[in-house]
Amino acid sequence: MAASLIICNWKMYLSYQEAVHWVKTNTQELKELLYHKPHRLVVCPSYDVLGALKDALPAPHVFLGAQDCAAHLNGPYTGQVSARSLKELGCAYTIIGHSETRKNLKGTIEASALKTKCAFDQDITPVVCIGESEDKYKAGTSLKLLEEQMRPLLALSLRYSQKQLVIAYEPLWSIGTGIVPENAYLEEVFAYIAKRSQKMGLQRAPLLLYGGSVDETNAATLKAVPLLSGFLIGKASTDFQKLKKIVQLI
Ligand code: PGA
Repeated sequence: MAASLIICNWKMYLSYQEAVHWVKTNTQELKELLYHKPHRLVVCPSYDVLGALKDALPAPHVFLGAQDCAAHLNGPYTGQVSARSLKELGCAYTIIGHSETRKNLKGTIEASALKTKCAFDQDITPVVCIGESEDKYKAGTSLKLLEEQMRPLLALSLRYSQKQLVIAYEPLWSIGTGIVPENAYLEEVFAYIAKRSQKMGLQRAPLLLYGGSVDETNAATLKAVPLLSGFLIGKASTDFQKLKKIVQLI
């Protein structure tokens, strides 16, 4: 894996003050680190923190991202945040369809596609999560499910041929569990995703990320997976020392 995309999904781990403090304390070191390792790092704090970080991240390698966006650009959607606002807040990326969002807020694949469209319309790069449950994995039906999850996204990507779609494969049984799939399995999954995208005849192939328990102990092994363009990292990305090690290892 050459220069890669690292999405830091801070979930709800850090409070407003903690997130601002994290950025203040670590910005200089982050800047130096990424000067030598030109990865693209995206910090995705909770919505409340976005405004405070608008101009706080060191360009040109660190970007601001959101953890979700609404499926509509405006209207009567209590508690939602639109891609228009994310754009105004300086977000270059947004995570979409994370399994925790899908589970807790009853998100659907169709909603993920609508959100992706809103992000594309605002020139925000969508990082759309797909992945199977442990049951589906054990039943050997992962690829079938991934195909269903990808279909509306790839159709949209075909219409927005100039925009970059990012697909993060996050098996649900790996998120926050410390269990990471074997490289051979990931190789099979990414080859399948890439083949489906090729079949659609997309002008721009989606960038493919892996997410689920990535940390400083497994990043070096995972980076050997072919077709991988980076990682979506949850818990480990909130610990600067761990994140630093990961960046150095990949
Ligand atoms: P984790 O989370 O790295 O803490 O497993 C990844 C994710 O949910 O995006």
